[in-house]
Amino acid sequence: MMESIVILDFGSQYTQLISRRIRELGVYSQIMPFNASIKQIRDLNARGVILSGSPYSVYQKGAPKPDKSLFSLDVPILGICYGMQYITHSMGGVVQRSKQREYGRAEIELSCDSPLFKDMDKDAKHTVWMSHSDRIEKMPADFELIASSANSPVAGFQHKTKPVFGLQFHPEVSHTVEGMQILGNFISCCSISQKWDLGAFVDAAVSGIKNSVGRDYVIGAISGGVDSTVASVLTQRAIGDRLKLVFIDNGLLRYGEPEEVMSAFKAMGLKVKHVDASSLFISRLKGVADPERKRKIIGKTFIDVFEEHAHGKGIQWLLQGTLYPDVIESMSHLGPSQTIKSHHNVGGLPSRMRLKVLEPLRLLFKDEVRSIGRLLGIPDGILQRQPFPGPGLSIRILGEVKQQHVDMLKMADRIVREEIDKSSLSTTLWQYFAVLLPVKTVGIMGDERTYEYVIAVRVVNSRDAMTADWARLPYELMDRLSSRIISEVVGVNRVVYDISSKPPSTIEWE
Ligand code: XMP
Repeated sequence: MMESIVILDFGSQYTQLISRRIRELGVYSQIMPFNASIKQIRDLNARGVILSGSPYSVYQKGAPKPDKSLFSLDVPILGICYGMQYITHSMGGVVQRSKQREYGRAEIELSCDSPLFKDMDKDAKHTVWMSHSDRIEKMPADFELIASSANSPVAGFQHKTKPVFGLQFHPEVSHTVEGMQILGNFISCCSISQKWDLGAFVDAAVSGIKNSVGRDYVIGAISGGVDSTVASVLTQRAIGDRLKLVFIDNGLLRYGEPEEVMSAFKAMGLKVKHVDASSLFISRLKGVADPERKRKIIGKTFIDVFEEHAHGKGIQWLLQGTLYPDVIESMSHLGPSQTIKSHHNVGGLPSRMRLKVLEPLRLLFKDEVRSIGRLLGIPDGILQRQPFPGPGLSIRILGEVKQQHVDMLKMADRIVREEIDKSSLSTTLWQYFAVLLPVKTVGIMGDERTYEYVIAVRVVNSRDAMTADWARLPYELMDRLSSRIISEVVGVNRVVYDISSKPPSTIEWE
Protein backbone atom coordinates (compact mmCIF):
# COMPACT_ATOMS: atom_id res chain seq x y z
CA MET A 1 0.00 0.00 0.00
CA MET A 2 1.31 3.39 -1.03
CA GLU A 3 2.20 5.93 1.68
CA SER A 4 -0.61 8.39 2.12
CA ILE A 5 -2.20 11.23 4.00
CA VAL A 6 -5.55 10.08 5.36
CA ILE A 7 -8.33 12.63 5.61
CA LEU A 8 -11.09 11.84 8.10
CA ASP A 9 -14.36 13.20 6.76
CA PHE A 10 -16.57 14.91 9.32
CA GLY A 11 -18.94 16.09 6.59
CA SER A 12 -17.34 19.29 5.34
CA GLN A 13 -18.15 20.48 1.84
CA TYR A 14 -14.38 20.93 1.43
CA THR A 15 -13.23 17.38 2.28
CA GLN A 16 -12.68 16.36 -1.34
CA LEU A 17 -10.90 19.60 -1.99
CA ILE A 18 -8.39 18.83 0.79
CA SER A 19 -7.73 15.47 -0.82
CA ARG A 20 -7.25 16.98 -4.29
CA ARG A 21 -4.90 19.63 -2.96
CA ILE A 22 -2.70 17.02 -1.25
CA ARG A 23 -2.54 15.06 -4.49
CA GLU A 24 -1.69 18.23 -6.42
CA LEU A 25 1.25 18.51 -4.05
CA GLY A 26 2.38 15.10 -5.30
CA VAL A 27 1.29 13.00 -2.32
CA TYR A 28 -1.36 10.29 -2.34
CA SER A 29 -4.35 11.09 -0.13
CA GLN A 30 -7.38 9.05 0.80
CA ILE A 31 -10.64 10.02 2.45
CA MET A 32 -12.10 7.83 5.18
CA PRO A 33 -15.29 8.16 7.23
CA PHE A 34 -14.68 10.06 10.48
CA ASN A 35 -15.12 6.91 12.55
CA ALA A 36 -12.54 4.77 10.70
CA SER A 37 -10.67 2.59 13.18
CA ILE A 38 -7.02 3.10 14.02
CA LYS A 39 -6.31 -0.25 12.39
CA GLN A 40 -7.94 0.87 9.14
CA ILE A 41 -5.92 4.09 9.17
CA ARG A 42 -2.70 2.19 9.84
CA ASP A 43 -3.52 -0.33 7.10
CA LEU A 44 -3.73 2.57 4.65
CA ASN A 45 -0.09 3.31 5.39
CA ALA A 46 -1.03 6.75 6.73
CA ARG A 47 1.94 9.07 7.27
CA GLY A 48 -0.26 11.94 8.38
CA VAL A 49 -3.92 12.50 9.25
CA ILE A 50 -6.09 15.52 8.48
CA LEU A 51 -9.37 16.05 10.34
CA SER A 52 -11.82 17.87 8.08
CA GLY A 53 -14.37 20.54 8.92
CA SER A 54 -18.01 19.72 9.63
CA PRO A 55 -21.46 21.29 9.71
CA TYR A 56 -21.65 20.13 13.36
CA SER A 57 -20.67 21.86 16.58
CA VAL A 58 -18.65 19.67 18.97
CA TYR A 59 -21.41 20.19 21.56
CA GLN A 60 -24.22 19.07 19.30
CA LYS A 61 -25.97 15.76 19.86
CA GLY A 62 -24.65 13.26 17.32
CA ALA A 63 -21.53 15.32 16.57
CA PRO A 64 -19.11 13.03 14.70
CA LYS A 65 -16.19 11.76 16.80
CA PRO A 66 -13.16 9.81 15.55
CA ASP A 67 -11.65 6.69 17.13
CA LYS A 68 -10.65 7.55 20.71
CA SER A 69 -7.09 6.40 20.26
CA LEU A 70 -6.50 8.69 17.27
CA PHE A 71 -3.83 10.64 19.11
CA SER A 72 -1.89 7.48 19.84
CA LEU A 73 -1.04 7.22 16.14
CA ASP A 74 2.56 8.32 15.88
CA VAL A 75 1.98 10.49 12.77
CA PRO A 76 1.38 14.24 12.41
CA ILE A 77 -2.25 15.36 12.75
CA LEU A 78 -3.80 18.53 11.35
CA GLY A 79 -7.30 19.59 12.41
CA ILE A 80 -9.05 22.05 10.10
CA CYS A 81 -11.96 24.07 11.52
CA TYR A 82 -14.20 21.46 13.21
CA GLY A 83 -11.13 19.20 13.26
CA MET A 84 -9.34 21.83 15.36
CA GLN A 85 -12.38 22.26 17.60
CA TYR A 86 -12.52 18.50 18.12
CA ILE A 87 -8.84 18.47 19.15
CA THR A 88 -9.55 21.31 21.59
CA HIS A 89 -12.67 19.74 23.07
CA SER A 90 -11.19 16.26 23.47
CA MET A 91 -7.95 17.50 25.05
CA GLY A 92 -9.52 19.70 27.68
CA GLY A 93 -9.62 23.11 25.98
CA VAL A 94 -12.77 25.18 25.57
CA VAL A 95 -14.73 25.75 22.38
CA GLN A 96 -17.02 28.74 22.47
CA ARG A 97 -20.47 28.13 21.02
CA SER A 98 -21.68 30.69 18.59
CA LYS A 99 -24.65 30.98 16.28
CA GLN A 100 -22.95 33.71 14.34
CA ARG A 101 -20.95 32.59 11.39
CA GLU A 102 -17.64 34.08 10.32
CA TYR A 103 -17.60 33.56 6.59
CA GLY A 104 -15.19 35.04 4.09
CA ARG A 105 -11.70 36.46 3.92
CA ALA A 106 -9.76 37.33 7.06
CA GLU A 107 -6.23 38.42 7.86
CA ILE A 108 -4.10 36.39 10.23
CA GLU A 109 -0.92 37.25 12.07
CA LEU A 110 1.65 34.56 12.82
CA SER A 111 2.63 34.50 16.44
CA CYS A 112 5.42 31.98 16.82
CA ASP A 113 7.70 29.83 14.77
CA SER A 114 5.73 26.89 13.46
CA PRO A 115 6.81 24.30 10.89
CA LEU A 116 3.31 24.79 9.42
CA PHE A 117 4.23 28.35 8.42
CA LYS A 118 7.74 27.62 7.15
CA ASP A 119 8.86 30.06 4.43
CA MET A 120 6.06 32.50 5.23
CA ASP A 121 6.77 36.10 6.23
CA LYS A 122 6.48 36.31 10.03
CA ASP A 123 5.96 40.06 10.02
CA ALA A 124 3.26 40.25 7.35
CA LYS A 125 -0.49 39.65 7.51
CA HIS A 126 -1.78 36.70 5.52
CA THR A 127 -5.16 36.39 3.80
CA VAL A 128 -7.12 33.25 4.70
CA TRP A 129 -10.66 31.91 4.20
CA MET A 130 -12.86 31.48 7.27
CA SER A 131 -16.12 29.54 7.42
CA HIS A 132 -17.10 28.68 10.97
CA SER A 133 -19.48 29.48 13.82
CA ASP A 134 -17.83 28.08 16.97
CA ARG A 135 -14.30 29.16 17.85
CA ILE A 136 -11.56 28.30 20.31
CA GLU A 137 -11.94 30.05 23.67
CA LYS A 138 -9.10 28.33 25.50
CA MET A 139 -6.39 26.09 24.09
CA PRO A 140 -5.79 22.71 25.75
CA ALA A 141 -2.76 22.47 28.06
CA ASP A 142 0.52 21.92 26.20
CA PHE A 143 -0.67 23.78 23.11
CA GLU A 144 0.71 27.11 21.92
CA LEU A 145 -0.71 29.83 19.73
CA ILE A 146 0.67 30.06 16.19
CA ALA A 147 -1.82 32.42 14.47
CA SER A 148 -4.61 34.82 15.32
CA SER A 149 -7.12 37.05 13.56
CA ALA A 150 -9.41 39.84 14.76
CA ASN A 151 -12.41 37.51 15.06
CA SER A 152 -10.56 34.34 15.98
CA PRO A 153 -7.93 35.04 18.62
CA VAL A 154 -6.92 31.38 18.25
CA ALA A 155 -6.77 30.96 14.48
CA GLY A 156 -4.00 28.36 14.68
CA PHE A 157 -2.29 26.29 17.37
CA GLN A 158 0.22 23.49 17.78
CA HIS A 159 1.18 21.04 20.49
CA LYS A 160 4.39 22.07 22.24
CA THR A 161 6.14 18.75 21.72
CA LYS A 162 4.05 16.57 19.37
CA PRO A 163 3.24 17.18 15.68
CA VAL A 164 -0.43 18.04 16.29
CA PHE A 165 -1.75 21.22 14.65
CA GLY A 166 -5.06 23.04 14.34
CA LEU A 167 -6.24 25.74 11.94
CA GLN A 168 -9.52 27.62 12.26
CA PHE A 169 -9.35 28.68 8.60
CA HIS A 170 -9.36 26.59 5.40
CA PRO A 171 -5.94 26.22 3.74
CA GLU A 172 -7.51 24.05 0.99
CA VAL A 173 -9.67 26.90 -0.36
CA SER A 174 -7.95 28.99 -3.02
CA HIS A 175 -8.87 32.26 -1.26
CA THR A 176 -6.35 31.30 1.41
CA VAL A 177 -3.48 32.80 -0.54
CA GLU A 178 -0.69 30.65 0.93
CA GLY A 179 -2.90 27.60 1.52
CA MET A 180 -0.82 25.29 -0.69
CA GLN A 181 2.34 26.40 1.12
CA ILE A 182 0.73 25.53 4.47
CA LEU A 183 -0.49 22.12 3.27
CA GLY A 184 2.94 21.50 1.72
CA ASN A 185 4.55 22.39 5.06
CA PHE A 186 2.28 19.90 6.82
CA ILE A 187 3.32 17.23 4.32
CA SER A 188 6.97 18.06 5.06
CA CYS A 189 6.27 17.23 8.73
CA CYS A 190 5.11 13.75 7.68
CA SER A 191 7.82 11.34 6.61
CA ILE A 192 6.71 10.55 3.08
CA SER A 193 9.13 9.30 0.49
CA GLN A 194 6.79 8.14 -2.30
CA LYS A 195 5.40 10.51 -4.92
CA TRP A 196 1.85 10.33 -6.29
CA ASP A 197 2.54 10.19 -9.97
CA LEU A 198 -0.11 9.46 -12.60
CA GLY A 199 2.36 7.82 -15.02
CA ALA A 200 3.22 5.30 -12.31
CA PHE A 201 -0.49 4.92 -11.60
CA VAL A 202 -1.11 3.85 -15.21
CA ASP A 203 1.58 1.15 -15.02
CA ALA A 204 0.26 -0.08 -11.67
CA ALA A 205 -3.34 -0.07 -12.92
CA VAL A 206 -2.45 -2.03 -16.06
CA SER A 207 -0.66 -4.72 -14.09
CA GLY A 208 -3.41 -4.69 -11.44
CA ILE A 209 -6.05 -5.35 -14.13
CA LYS A 210 -3.91 -8.14 -15.63
CA ASN A 211 -3.58 -9.80 -12.24
CA SER A 212 -7.23 -9.56 -11.29
CA VAL A 213 -8.70 -10.59 -14.64
CA GLY A 214 -6.27 -13.41 -15.44
CA ARG A 215 -7.54 -15.27 -18.52
CA ASP A 216 -11.17 -14.08 -18.11
CA TYR A 217 -13.08 -11.74 -20.41
CA VAL A 218 -14.40 -8.30 -19.45
CA ILE A 219 -17.51 -6.59 -20.79
CA GLY A 220 -18.11 -2.86 -20.67
CA ALA A 221 -20.52 -0.21 -21.89
CA ILE A 222 -18.78 2.72 -23.51
CA SER A 223 -20.53 6.04 -24.11
CA GLY A 224 -17.75 8.22 -25.48
CA GLY A 225 -17.71 10.18 -22.22
CA VAL A 226 -14.38 10.72 -20.48
CA ASP A 227 -14.76 8.09 -17.73
CA SER A 228 -15.91 5.11 -19.76
CA THR A 229 -13.39 5.87 -22.52
CA VAL A 230 -10.40 6.17 -20.19
CA ALA A 231 -11.46 3.04 -18.28
CA SER A 232 -11.77 1.14 -21.58
CA VAL A 233 -8.41 2.23 -23.00
CA LEU A 234 -6.67 1.37 -19.74
CA THR A 235 -8.29 -2.05 -19.63
CA GLN A 236 -7.56 -2.72 -23.27
CA ARG A 237 -3.87 -1.98 -22.58
CA ALA A 238 -3.97 -4.68 -19.94
CA ILE A 239 -5.95 -7.45 -21.64
CA GLY A 240 -6.30 -6.47 -25.31
CA ASP A 241 -9.15 -8.16 -27.19
CA ARG A 242 -10.44 -9.90 -24.09
CA LEU A 243 -12.21 -6.61 -23.42
CA LYS A 244 -15.63 -6.58 -25.13
CA LEU A 245 -17.25 -3.16 -25.53
CA VAL A 246 -20.79 -2.17 -26.38
CA PHE A 247 -21.98 1.31 -27.39
CA ILE A 248 -25.73 1.70 -26.92
CA ASP A 249 -27.43 4.38 -28.98
CA ASN A 250 -30.61 5.26 -27.08
CA GLY A 251 -31.74 7.72 -29.75
CA LEU A 252 -31.38 10.54 -27.24
CA LEU A 253 -27.85 11.54 -28.14
CA ARG A 254 -26.83 14.82 -29.72
CA TYR A 255 -26.82 15.40 -33.45
CA GLY A 256 -24.12 13.34 -35.17
CA GLU A 257 -22.85 11.93 -31.89
CA PRO A 258 -23.11 8.16 -32.53
CA GLU A 259 -21.08 8.48 -35.74
CA GLU A 260 -18.51 10.78 -34.11
CA VAL A 261 -17.84 8.59 -31.10
CA MET A 262 -17.77 5.37 -33.12
CA SER A 263 -15.11 6.81 -35.40
CA ALA A 264 -13.15 8.10 -32.38
CA PHE A 265 -13.22 4.57 -30.89
CA LYS A 266 -11.91 3.17 -34.15
CA ALA A 267 -9.10 5.72 -34.26
CA MET A 268 -8.09 4.71 -30.72
CA GLY A 269 -8.02 1.05 -31.73
CA LEU A 270 -11.02 0.10 -29.55
CA LYS A 271 -13.29 -2.59 -30.97
CA VAL A 272 -16.83 -1.57 -30.09
CA LYS A 273 -20.19 -3.16 -30.94
CA HIS A 274 -22.67 -0.46 -32.00
CA VAL A 275 -26.24 -1.20 -30.90
CA ASP A 276 -28.98 1.08 -32.20
CA ALA A 277 -31.79 0.75 -29.67
CA SER A 278 -33.42 4.12 -30.31
CA SER A 279 -36.86 2.84 -31.21
CA LEU A 280 -37.06 0.69 -28.08
CA PHE A 281 -36.17 3.63 -25.83
CA ILE A 282 -38.66 5.98 -27.52
CA SER A 283 -41.44 3.40 -27.39
CA ARG A 284 -40.91 2.76 -23.68
CA LEU A 285 -41.02 6.51 -22.98
CA LYS A 286 -44.41 6.91 -24.69
CA GLY A 287 -46.91 8.73 -22.49
CA VAL A 288 -44.41 9.27 -19.64
CA ALA A 289 -44.03 12.88 -18.48
CA ASP A 290 -42.51 12.61 -15.00
CA PRO A 291 -38.72 13.32 -15.01
CA GLU A 292 -37.83 10.69 -12.42
CA ARG A 293 -39.90 8.03 -14.20
CA LYS A 294 -38.20 8.93 -17.45
CA ARG A 295 -34.79 8.44 -15.80
CA LYS A 296 -35.83 5.09 -14.31
CA ILE A 297 -37.20 3.79 -17.61
CA ILE A 298 -34.06 4.80 -19.46
CA GLY A 299 -31.84 3.20 -16.79
CA LYS A 300 -33.82 -0.03 -16.92
CA THR A 301 -33.96 -0.14 -20.73
CA PHE A 302 -30.22 0.44 -20.85
CA ILE A 303 -29.67 -2.57 -18.62
CA ASP A 304 -32.04 -4.74 -20.69
CA VAL A 305 -30.30 -3.83 -23.96
CA PHE A 306 -26.85 -4.22 -22.48
CA GLU A 307 -27.69 -7.64 -21.06
CA GLU A 308 -29.03 -8.78 -24.39
CA HIS A 309 -25.83 -7.82 -26.21
CA ALA A 310 -23.30 -8.65 -23.54
CA HIS A 311 -23.18 -12.40 -23.82
CA GLY A 312 -20.02 -14.25 -24.46
CA LYS A 313 -18.04 -17.21 -23.25
CA GLY A 314 -15.76 -16.56 -20.32
CA ILE A 315 -17.16 -13.11 -19.47
CA GLN A 316 -16.77 -12.77 -15.72
CA TRP A 317 -16.21 -9.06 -15.26
CA LEU A 318 -18.08 -5.83 -15.80
CA LEU A 319 -15.98 -2.72 -16.41
CA GLN A 320 -17.27 0.44 -14.75
CA GLY A 321 -15.92 3.99 -14.85
CA THR A 322 -16.65 4.69 -11.17
CA LEU A 323 -14.68 7.67 -9.82
CA TYR A 324 -13.42 8.47 -6.34
CA PRO A 325 -16.21 10.94 -5.41
CA ASP A 326 -18.80 8.13 -5.89
CA VAL A 327 -16.71 5.79 -3.77
CA ILE A 328 -16.45 8.39 -1.00
CA GLU A 329 -20.17 9.09 -1.17
CA SER A 330 -21.04 5.44 -0.79
CA MET A 331 -18.69 5.20 2.25
CA SER A 332 -20.08 8.24 4.01
CA HIS A 333 -21.47 7.55 7.47
CA LEU A 334 -23.14 10.90 7.86
CA GLY A 335 -26.38 9.77 6.26
CA PRO A 336 -27.53 10.16 2.70
CA SER A 337 -28.20 13.63 1.40
CA GLN A 338 -31.55 14.14 -0.26
CA THR A 339 -31.83 12.88 -3.82
CA ILE A 340 -32.60 15.80 -6.09
CA LYS A 341 -32.21 13.84 -9.32
CA SER A 342 -31.45 10.15 -9.50
CA HIS A 343 -28.51 9.85 -11.85
CA HIS A 344 -28.55 7.11 -14.36
CA ASN A 345 -25.83 4.49 -14.11
CA VAL A 346 -25.51 0.76 -14.50
CA GLY A 347 -25.86 0.07 -10.78
CA GLY A 348 -28.15 -2.96 -10.92
CA LEU A 349 -26.15 -4.81 -13.53
CA PRO A 350 -23.35 -6.71 -11.80
CA SER A 351 -25.55 -8.70 -9.43
CA ARG A 352 -28.15 -9.41 -12.11
CA MET A 353 -25.54 -10.65 -14.54
CA ARG A 354 -23.51 -12.32 -11.78
CA LEU A 355 -20.41 -10.42 -12.77
CA LYS A 356 -17.46 -9.19 -10.77
CA VAL A 357 -16.88 -5.47 -11.01
CA LEU A 358 -13.70 -3.95 -12.42
CA GLU A 359 -13.31 -0.27 -11.47
CA PRO A 360 -9.83 0.89 -12.51
CA LEU A 361 -10.61 4.58 -11.88
CA ARG A 362 -12.12 4.23 -8.42
CA LEU A 363 -9.27 6.08 -6.71
CA LEU A 364 -9.19 9.03 -9.09
CA PHE A 365 -10.73 12.47 -9.27
CA LYS A 366 -12.09 13.69 -12.61
CA ASP A 367 -9.14 15.97 -13.37
CA GLU A 368 -6.79 13.03 -12.73
CA VAL A 369 -8.81 10.87 -15.14
CA ARG A 370 -8.36 13.54 -17.81
CA SER A 371 -4.59 13.63 -17.18
CA ILE A 372 -4.42 9.86 -17.47
CA GLY A 373 -6.45 10.04 -20.66
CA ARG A 374 -3.81 12.40 -22.03
CA LEU A 375 -1.03 10.01 -21.00
CA LEU A 376 -2.89 7.21 -22.80
CA GLY A 377 -3.08 9.31 -25.99
CA ILE A 378 -6.87 9.80 -25.95
CA PRO A 379 -7.72 12.79 -28.18
CA ASP A 380 -8.71 16.11 -26.60
CA GLY A 381 -12.04 15.96 -28.43
CA ILE A 382 -13.05 13.18 -26.01
CA LEU A 383 -11.24 14.41 -22.88
CA GLN A 384 -12.65 17.92 -23.06
CA ARG A 385 -16.25 17.00 -23.88
CA GLN A 386 -18.82 18.79 -21.82
CA PRO A 387 -20.77 16.62 -19.39
CA PHE A 388 -23.81 15.00 -20.95
CA PRO A 389 -26.45 13.34 -18.79
CA GLY A 390 -27.08 9.59 -19.07
CA PRO A 391 -30.79 10.09 -19.94
CA GLY A 392 -29.61 12.35 -22.75
CA LEU A 393 -31.97 14.68 -24.56
CA SER A 394 -34.98 13.14 -22.81
CA ILE A 395 -34.50 15.41 -19.80
CA ARG A 396 -34.14 18.43 -22.08
CA ILE A 397 -37.58 17.85 -23.60
CA LEU A 398 -39.99 18.76 -20.84
CA GLY A 399 -42.72 16.20 -20.28
CA GLU A 400 -43.40 13.40 -22.73
CA VAL A 401 -40.65 12.57 -25.23
CA LYS A 402 -41.87 12.32 -28.82
CA GLN A 403 -39.65 11.50 -31.79
CA GLN A 404 -40.64 14.72 -33.56
CA HIS A 405 -39.51 16.73 -30.51
CA VAL A 406 -36.23 14.83 -30.30
CA ASP A 407 -35.55 15.75 -33.93
CA MET A 408 -36.33 19.43 -33.31
CA LEU A 409 -34.17 19.57 -30.23
CA LYS A 410 -31.25 17.90 -32.01
CA MET A 411 -31.31 20.62 -34.68
CA ALA A 412 -31.54 23.46 -32.16
CA ASP A 413 -28.84 21.96 -29.95
CA ARG A 414 -26.57 21.53 -32.95
CA ILE A 415 -26.85 25.25 -33.69
CA VAL A 416 -26.08 26.18 -30.07
CA ARG A 417 -23.00 23.97 -30.10
CA GLU A 418 -21.82 25.11 -33.53
CA GLU A 419 -22.06 28.80 -32.73
CA ILE A 420 -20.48 28.55 -29.27
CA ASP A 421 -17.73 26.22 -30.52
CA LYS A 422 -16.83 28.88 -33.08
CA SER A 423 -16.41 31.47 -30.31
CA SER A 424 -13.45 31.62 -27.97
CA LEU A 425 -15.80 30.91 -25.05
CA SER A 426 -16.23 27.19 -25.54
CA THR A 427 -13.15 26.19 -23.54
CA THR A 428 -14.19 28.11 -20.43
CA LEU A 429 -17.88 27.20 -20.34
CA TRP A 430 -19.06 24.20 -18.34
CA GLN A 431 -22.11 23.26 -20.42
CA TYR A 432 -24.10 24.76 -23.28
CA PHE A 433 -27.21 23.25 -24.77
CA ALA A 434 -30.79 23.74 -25.93
CA VAL A 435 -33.99 22.71 -24.13
CA LEU A 436 -37.32 22.19 -25.86
CA LEU A 437 -40.35 23.67 -24.11
CA PRO A 438 -43.41 21.97 -25.52
CA VAL A 439 -45.63 25.00 -25.13
CA LYS A 440 -46.74 27.03 -28.12
CA THR A 441 -46.51 30.76 -28.49
CA VAL A 442 -47.74 33.12 -31.18
CA GLY A 443 -45.35 34.62 -33.69
CA ILE A 444 -45.30 36.10 -37.13
CA MET A 445 -43.32 34.89 -40.09
CA GLY A 446 -43.67 36.92 -43.32
CA ASP A 447 -47.32 37.91 -43.29
CA GLU A 448 -48.44 34.78 -41.51
CA ARG A 449 -49.36 34.17 -37.90
CA THR A 450 -47.41 31.21 -36.41
CA TYR A 451 -48.17 29.15 -33.32
CA GLU A 452 -45.10 27.11 -32.46
CA TYR A 453 -42.73 25.80 -29.79
CA VAL A 454 -40.11 27.57 -27.63
CA ILE A 455 -36.41 26.71 -27.35
CA ALA A 456 -34.57 27.70 -24.18
CA VAL A 457 -30.80 28.12 -24.37
CA ARG A 458 -28.89 27.09 -21.23
CA VAL A 459 -25.23 28.09 -20.89
CA VAL A 460 -23.45 27.84 -17.53
CA ASN A 461 -20.11 28.35 -15.88
CA SER A 462 -19.22 25.94 -13.12
CA ARG A 463 -16.26 24.24 -11.46
CA ASP A 464 -17.85 20.97 -10.47
CA ALA A 465 -21.60 21.11 -11.28
CA MET A 466 -22.42 21.51 -7.58
CA THR A 467 -23.05 25.20 -8.13
CA ALA A 468 -23.33 27.04 -11.43
CA ASP A 469 -23.90 30.50 -12.77
CA TRP A 470 -25.53 31.45 -16.08
CA ALA A 471 -23.00 32.69 -18.58
CA ARG A 472 -23.05 36.31 -19.70
CA LEU A 473 -22.88 35.61 -23.44
CA PRO A 474 -22.17 38.49 -25.83
CA TYR A 475 -25.40 39.89 -27.31
CA GLU A 476 -24.20 39.30 -30.88
CA LEU A 477 -23.75 35.60 -30.14
CA MET A 478 -27.19 35.37 -28.53
CA ASP A 479 -28.63 37.12 -31.53
CA ARG A 480 -27.04 34.61 -33.93
CA LEU A 481 -28.32 31.69 -31.86
CA SER A 482 -31.83 33.05 -31.86
CA SER A 483 -32.06 33.91 -35.54
CA ARG A 484 -30.49 30.66 -36.68
CA ILE A 485 -32.70 28.50 -34.46
CA ILE A 486 -35.90 30.27 -35.53
CA SER A 487 -35.08 30.19 -39.21
CA GLU A 488 -33.55 26.68 -39.37
CA VAL A 489 -35.61 24.63 -36.93
CA VAL A 490 -39.07 24.00 -38.30
CA GLY A 491 -41.71 24.26 -35.57
CA VAL A 492 -39.91 26.83 -33.36
CA ASN A 493 -40.77 30.53 -33.36
CA ARG A 494 -39.27 31.77 -30.09
CA VAL A 495 -35.93 31.47 -28.25
CA VAL A 496 -35.39 32.38 -24.59
CA TYR A 497 -32.20 32.51 -22.52
CA ASP A 498 -32.09 30.87 -19.09
CA ILE A 499 -30.78 33.35 -16.50
CA SER A 500 -31.04 31.15 -13.40
CA SER A 501 -28.14 30.05 -11.24
CA LYS A 502 -27.71 26.80 -9.33
CA PRO A 503 -28.89 26.87 -6.59
CA PRO A 504 -31.78 27.50 -6.52
CA SER A 505 -32.26 26.14 -10.08
CA THR A 506 -30.39 23.12 -11.42
CA ILE A 507 -28.32 22.96 -14.59
CA GLU A 508 -30.66 20.62 -16.45
CA TRP A 509 -34.34 21.52 -16.61
CA GLU A 510 -35.57 18.13 -15.37
P1 XMP B 1 -28.15 19.27 -12.33
O1 XMP B 1 -29.22 19.35 -13.35
O2 XMP B 1 -28.49 18.36 -11.19
O3 XMP B 1 -26.92 18.61 -13.06
O4 XMP B 1 -27.68 20.63 -11.86
C1 XMP B 1 -25.61 18.54 -12.55
C2 XMP B 1 -24.75 17.83 -13.58
O5 XMP B 1 -25.16 16.47 -13.71
C3 XMP B 1 -25.61 16.21 -15.03
N1 XMP B 1 -26.82 15.39 -14.89
C4 XMP B 1 -26.87 14.07 -15.07
N2 XMP B 1 -25.90 13.20 -15.39
N3 XMP B 1 -27.47 11.44 -15.31
C5 XMP B 1 -26.22 11.89 -15.53
O6 XMP B 1 -25.36 11.08 -15.85
C6 XMP B 1 -28.51 12.24 -14.97
O7 XMP B 1 -29.63 11.80 -14.79
C7 XMP B 1 -28.18 13.64 -14.85
N4 XMP B 1 -28.90 14.73 -14.50
C8 XMP B 1 -28.05 15.80 -14.54
C9 XMP B 1 -25.87 17.56 -15.67
O8 XMP B 1 -25.72 17.53 -17.07
C10 XMP B 1 -24.86 18.43 -14.97
O9 XMP B 1 -23.59 18.34 -15.57
